[in-house]
Amino acid sequence: MPLPRLIIATRNAHKTAEIRAMTDGRYEVLDVTSYPECPEIEETGTTFLENARLKAFGISAMIDGLVLSDDSGLEVDALGGAPGVWSSSYGGEEGNHPRNNARLSQEMAGKTERRARFRCTMVLARGGRELAHFSGTVEGRIIEESRGSQGFGYDPLFIPNGHESTFAELGEEVKNILSHRSRALAQVLDYLAKGA
Ligand code: IMP
Repeated sequence: MPLPRLIIATRNAHKTAEIRAMTDGRYEVLDVTSYPECPEIEETGTTFLENARLKAFGISAMIDGLVLSDDSGLEVDALGGAPGVWSSSYGGEEGNHPRNNARLSQEMAGKTERRARFRCTMVLARGGRELAHFSGTVEGRIIEESRGSQGFGYDPLFIPNGHESTFAELGEEVKNILSHRSRALAQVLDYLAKGA
């Protein structure tokens, strides 16, 4: 029996790799890089759920099969929840992680309140329609200088509660137990296991 296919509505190879690792071989995990005909979906929403829906509906309307979107980001209390849904372009250029991290470090310079969390909202869809949506968060704090080389995005600046190392130092195995993405995905896998 071929594995059921799960198409991730992203071109972010890091997200796909994390989701693939967390599905433990139970699904064939692809993303839209395998479907070059898929358009770029503009993320015009103002919440994670709105953007996750835009991606899941847009891609699943074009591709036959089960589509899962992931919209995620970092909320920093001292910055009033920024960068939030604008996490991927915080430094001025979409997907430029070094610039995003440089801006975050600059905005946080001298601040003693360092609490932050990653949020992830996932939408499962088929044929342009939502089957269900799920969310996960992980609480932590922002450090002053980047540490570690694994993961992606803000991982070198984020220490999850209960740890003294950043996600970029802890590495994939630990991150995939604790992360916002793993918490949302656990609910997705539960839902699918029940026969969606
Ligand atoms: P999206 O592609 O619009 O969902 O934007 C996600 C952005 O949030 C990424 O480009 C990163 O800046 C940030 N982000 C989301 N998840 C993570 C993570 O697991 N580690 C570090 N940064 C993340």
